[in-house]
Amino acid sequence: TLVDLASVAGECAREQTGLGAFNVVHIEHAEAFVAAAERAGRPVVLQVSENAVAFHGSLAPLGAGVLAAARSARVPVVVHLDHAKDTALIAEAIALGFTSVMYDGSHLPYEQNLAATAAVVAHAHARGVSVEAELGEVGGKDGVHHPGARTDPDEAGQFAAATGIDLLAVAVGSSHAMTTRGARLDTDLITALAAAVPVPLVLHGSSGVSDEGMRSAIAAGIIKVNVSTHLNTIFTASVRDYLEANPAVVDTRRWFAAGIEPVGVEVERLLGKIYVG
Ligand code: G3H
Ligand code: ZN
Repeated sequence: TLVDLASVAGECAREQTGLGAFNVVHIEHAEAFVAAAERAGRPVVLQVSENAVAFHGSLAPLGAGVLAAARSARVPVVVHLDHAKDTALIAEAIALGFTSVMYDGSHLPYEQNLAATAAVVAHAHARGVSVEAELGEVGGKDGVHHPGARTDPDEAGQFAAATGIDLLAVAVGSSHAMTTRGARLDTDLITALAAAVPVPLVLHGSSGVSDEGMRSAIAAGIIKVNVSTHLNTIFTASVRDYLEANPAVVDTRRWFAAGIEPVGVEVERLLGKIYVG
């Protein structure tokens, strides 16, 4: 079932579980993530980033497929636009049927981030769509890691109240696109942010965080856990192994299946064993 992010994140907050959010670049990701969520009996967020839209050249073909996968799922599924700076793309995603969008103004000065985020909230909420924003920039998207970035709890509390957002992404020690899981999260800061911010918190760059690190982060107050690179690492290593073992293969379904199957197994493990405490 297709659901909005605010209600499913609120439910996870009440039961103190994490909500897995996984990036969809190819339609097979959406199929694998829905199947994994059904096996785990957990809700899931399928997210398409502005970068993935740039890769495809447009949102609609992939977006429509992801929405179809969500609507036929036997568990609650959110279809979310991830890391969008382009407000025209946000409007397009909402018109297409996405139930959640992230406006990423984390690179902007505070006042500009606040004003732009509030405008997105007005547009989205009028259409029943949830909004995630970011304060305190989680680095790494451009290959430059700055795990020292931190979100200030007082500022975050004011930002959430002033904008009316549904979820807030915070900088607490993770960084995007890490290929090892050694990031050290500031769990005391997560606790302080959870107390100061009236909406569920989002951890970006979770690929760099160990199983235990994610369990601690969720226990401290993280709800939405964004994972992409970790799954790409599994996919690509599995494809590489398959092609090396099967050099004569030409059917793309063979090696794609070899790559996506272990990704689904890992998503099922994260949803069913790690994010539930
Ligand atoms: O928004 C997406 C995520 O923050 C994923 O980051 O690729 O480091 O797991 P990651
Ligand atoms: Zn992110």
